[in-house]
Amino acid sequence: MKNISIQLKLNGVRRTLEVEPSDVLLDVLRDKLGVKSPKVGCDRGDCGSCTVFMNGKTVRSCLVLAVEADGADVVTLEGISKNGPTRLQKEFVKRNSFQCGFCAPGVILSAEEALKKHPRASDEEIKEHIAGNLCRCTGYKPILDAIKTVASGKASK
Ligand code: FES
Ligand code: FES
Repeated sequence: MKNISIQLKLNGVRRTLEVEPSDVLLDVLRDKLGVKSPKVGCDRGDCGSCTVFMNGKTVRSCLVLAVEADGADVVTLEGISKNGPTRLQKEFVKRNSFQCGFCAPGVILSAEEALKKHPRASDEEIKEHIAGNLCRCTGYKPILDAIKTVASGKASK
């Protein structure tokens, strides 16, 4: 198949690369652009481990063709942490919210999106936002507690 040249902004840096028409964004990010935080989980849109921001909204990068990201602004966990951990990330660390950490990049981006939309998100809004991010280890409580703390304004700076 003939390769296609695409251009995207990845974590603030313009990148140009050749992709195959069938390449998915997740594989291109990991294998061609060296960004490893989006994880290959189910590879079919069910687990949320491949979550990234595309043009300001979270998407499952395993369901996005790389050619669809041509011209897009893509931000991964590496991008949101560029200037150090966010308040939410600090709270996750403080509470040991994750165990194996496989789900963490996706959960963090979904939670950051929830707080961007609703800085004082209710419990329901938080749950709704991270409902698509599966975690096999934690039972979700330490994850939800951290997000709730930030949403309540009680997180340390
Ligand atoms: S790997 Fe994309 S949703 Fe599971
Ligand atoms: S901490 Fe292991 S899957 Fe969430």
